Amino acid sequence: MKELLRELRGRALSAIEKAENAEALEALRVQYLGKKGELTAVLKQMGKLSAEERPVMGQLANELRSAVEKTLEQRRTALAEALLQRRLRDEAVDVTIPGEPHRMGHRHPMYAVLDEIKQIFIGMGFEILDGPEVEQSVYNFDKLNTDEGHPAREWSDTFYFAEDSSRLLRTQTSPMQIHAMETRPLPIRMVAPGRVYRKDEVDATHSPMFHQVEGMVIDKGVTMADLKGTLDQVAKRLYGEGTVTRFRPHHFPFTEPSCEMDIQCYKCHGAGCPTCKGEGWIELLGAGMIHPRVLRMSGIDPDVYSGWAFGFGLERMAMGRFKIGDLRLIFENDVRFLEQF
Ligand code: DAH
Repeated sequence: MKELLRELRGRALSAIEKAENAEALEALRVQYLGKKGELTAVLKQMGKLSAEERPVMGQLANELRSAVEKTLEQRRTALAEALLQRRLRDEAVDVTIPGEPHRMGHRHPMYAVLDEIKQIFIGMGFEILDGPEVEQSVYNFDKLNTDEGHPAREWSDTFYFAEDSSRLLRTQTSPMQIHAMETRPLPIRMVAPGRVYRKDEVDATHSPMFHQVEGMVIDKGVTMADLKGTLDQVAKRLYGEGTVTRFRPHHFPFTEPSCEMDIQCYKCHGAGCPTCKGEGWIELLGAGMIHPRVLRMSGIDPDVYSGWAFGFGLERMAMGRFKIGDLRLIFENDVRFLEQF
């Protein structure tokens, strides 16, 4: 029996030391120490031994058990350590490898101008509104005092959705005036930038989609002086303190009186140069006192309230600002172009 135990010890310990992984170790534990294991089988034969032999063999068997257990534990620790080392090696990140360069985009010059415009108006207490690009003709035209038969309503100029011309892609941001009147509490000070659509062929100065910025103030006692003072301030903030503005009479159906605002050319200061096409002045926007009919149609009493409004093309403003000669560059989003601003 002594022989048997020695043989078992040699076999068990060397097998354990060669085990490749935790599963193999567990199988060995069961093989030797399990209920039906080899050592257990030996112990079961102890009964056959003499009274003198039994304690000696018992001690030897116990020693073997703890030797097997100890070796199992050592091997388990060694395997775990090896596994950890392998993972540390395989999953190591070499922080010295240069990263993949990411190509950065660039802020669009037109949106940079828009952000500046928003900041100026927010500073003056205006709110920024957003509204639908798919619009009812009623909002785009009728409620802006532009009745059936007006040339602005021509099919050749406007993207209509339905045969009955009731729905369209808005041709101007002015319908936002009506939405504001219908939904905002008085007084109102708002600016509404957004896309507008017209049936134009693409060229250096035209696009079927472009951006406008609408603005409107309605309060008690608002006059043309407020319009001029505010827009003059905006021009000075945008083009510099020394900017000179002038207001020329004009016509829009939804304002009375109506005007256009020019700034004196910042390049030649009025003398005439290529930037202002020899005019000395650069047209900036359309504006006017809101027509009493427009106020009344949207439920505002023109005998109590008055207001003024303006609108301008954002692309044109950005192009003038950055001396961009071709409208198409604004929409192409070529980073080599955008990066210049
Ligand atoms: N909606 C006009 C256009 O598209 C621009 C405009 C003119 C807007 C005068 C206004 C305004 O609010 O008062 O040409």
